[in-house]
Amino acid sequence: MTPAAFPERERVDAHDKVLGRTRYAADLPFPGLLYAMTVPATIARGTLAALPTAPALRVPGVVRVLTAADFPPPAAPAGGMPAPPTLTDEIAYRGQPVALVLAESLEAAIEGAEALEPVYAQQSFAPLIDSAGAARAPAEPVRAGDAGAALGAARATLQERYVSPAQHHNPIEMLSTTAVWADGMLTIHEGTQAAGPVRAGVARALGLDPAKIAVSSPYTGGAFGQKGGVQRQTAIVAQAAILTGRPVKLVMPRGQIFHNATFRPLSRHQVTLGATAERPLSVIRYDADHQQSRTGQFPPSYHESTRVCYDVPDYDGTSANVRIDTQDPGYMRAPHPHPAHFALESAIDELSYKLGRDPVALRLEVPATKDPVSGHPLSSCLLSDCLRVGAQRFGWDRRSAAPRSMRLADGTQVGWGVAGGAYPVNTTAAIATLRIGADGSTRFAVTGHEFGQGIRTVIAQLLQAELGIDASRLDIAIGDTRAAPQHTTAGSWGTNSVVPAVAKACERLKAAMAELLAGRPVEGGIHRQLAAVKRPFLQVEVSTLAAGQDPSALDRLRAGGFAKAGPEYPGYASHSYIAHFVEVRVEPRTRRVRVPRVVSVADCGRVVSPRTAASQVRGGVVMAIGSALREETEVDPRYGGWLNADLADYVVPVNADIGDIEVEFIDRPDPLTNAIGTKGLGEVSMVGAAGAIANAVYHATGIRVRKMPIRIEDLL
Ligand code: MOS
Repeated sequence: MTPAAFPERERVDAHDKVLGRTRYAADLPFPGLLYAMTVPATIARGTLAALPTAPALRVPGVVRVLTAADFPPPAAPAGGMPAPPTLTDEIAYRGQPVALVLAESLEAAIEGAEALEPVYAQQSFAPLIDSAGAARAPAEPVRAGDAGAALGAARATLQERYVSPAQHHNPIEMLSTTAVWADGMLTIHEGTQAAGPVRAGVARALGLDPAKIAVSSPYTGGAFGQKGGVQRQTAIVAQAAILTGRPVKLVMPRGQIFHNATFRPLSRHQVTLGATAERPLSVIRYDADHQQSRTGQFPPSYHESTRVCYDVPDYDGTSANVRIDTQDPGYMRAPHPHPAHFALESAIDELSYKLGRDPVALRLEVPATKDPVSGHPLSSCLLSDCLRVGAQRFGWDRRSAAPRSMRLADGTQVGWGVAGGAYPVNTTAAIATLRIGADGSTRFAVTGHEFGQGIRTVIAQLLQAELGIDASRLDIAIGDTRAAPQHTTAGSWGTNSVVPAVAKACERLKAAMAELLAGRPVEGGIHRQLAAVKRPFLQVEVSTLAAGQDPSALDRLRAGGFAKAGPEYPGYASHSYIAHFVEVRVEPRTRRVRVPRVVSVADCGRVVSPRTAASQVRGGVVMAIGSALREETEVDPRYGGWLNADLADYVVPVNADIGDIEVEFIDRPDPLTNAIGTKGLGEVSMVGAAGAIANAVYHATGIRVRKMPIRIEDLL
């Protein structure tokens, strides 16, 4: 039986945010604050031959210039992971910071940074994925069945190549670090998704005891993966605070963010599909590679979700890193599934035309029930429900099948496209403390970060539902190593990992309360009951593990290590799903593409906070519109580095680019993931949407564009 839907509630932090009361890391005032500015390398590869600091020190207000000499030598890699970078004389990419200027004012710091004239010894470099000097390194293949034999026996096959460009996230909150060194304790204030790993990473980079470091990020102003680890400037700024004994703040300028933040690497996807007489899709061979830095760790894991949307017993997945001279790429919303499903869902659309089949009907004919690689059943897969509900809401039955067959009176071409998507369900260990006061207060401290996705609202919703607490006096402490051990919040595991912790804490608290009342009937809510038995507060601490997770995950969590499980769990695999239906309009003369209407239907298990969940999906669709039609970071091969490193030239969608985005949820609890039945939503919301846009563009124009972004010149 499906439980009643959770009620629609407003975002708990909405008022403060709208009123500008929310303090982000860079907003915090500190007496005696020093302002910092980084000096970016102007070569793409080489070494720093000399860096005279006198020109900066002559600027009034500049107090110190940090160079590589101010840092310990890099720590040895641990567990295959290099220590977070500081300043070195080795230049690996254009824009890498070579010095940090500290001053009494921001203006002086900037002037000091601009006054420096580093002397470089340049070396040759490989700026592009197909440059001479690019080094291809294959990863482990992912295989099930015998794709070669299946393709040989197929009635129809399709092979195409798709390209997803390099892209940079641009959350509104810039990258920043404010570090305070006082009484032998280093406190780092930084918008992050990973307070615990930042603490562990800075300790490694600077040779400090992690117990002497605290990291605080109660609010993060947009993240999307860019803030998922130790940032390029974090340890540098921390060292500046230690060496000067004063609080130091760096807000990285947008132009430097392009060079120093992780980014979505360019990726290439060759997809081969086969159909038999019985099944319109039965086999996938898929080879992916992506742009990688020389020592980067972001894996080419393009095969996790592409094998669990449709029933394909024969799957052959290969992938590779292509190492060039760039900064480290990294996670950007739906990192692998977004480009992978752009390719897969475009290819399935192409196959549907080849077979003369409706693209929704084709997909409905081959629903996935298991992961072909592990052979494990899926905990739930309601992609077919998403497709059916979406088709109905969108009015898909009014679509005329032939490309170029729908147009408006003025000649505008109309296209309707569909695509599905999936994203792994991940879960992390969590530790939480719940304290209920007789005075009406509630404090909940837990592993997790709020970057606008709504994790606080999810927590508040459950605490109200389970305990009837006074929500107006609820304090939720997250993103702070002082409140609870902090893992990274990413991979759409935030809600999914915090929900079991809230559920378990509520259960424990109810048991403790029952023991306290010892059968006495006491009127009123939980706070009144405590007052009645003269207990100022009741507190419980709980820890939770993912299904089948070894308890050592809690130790890794406490140490700022990796404590994630999924999408493979004991005996099953788990993924979230979505279907997107998109209408595009292509103007007859300018060939400009508009997206007036999208219907997205998601299967993320149980929806705990309907309002923030719908907002997540809208955000994912907006990001996909940006990806499909606007965003690409370009390299000038003569110099390396990024050419369009600002928001004037890196074009993102604006309000006028976005039409109606209707969101609906299947809202059926997953029977296996956790007590509430959540899966995950933040990233699946984007997956497939770019493919649906490309498919709609084809339906409108008859032109198949196999790369993002789709531009006017592609449709002339
Ligand atoms: Mo997400 S790209 O895992 O923050």
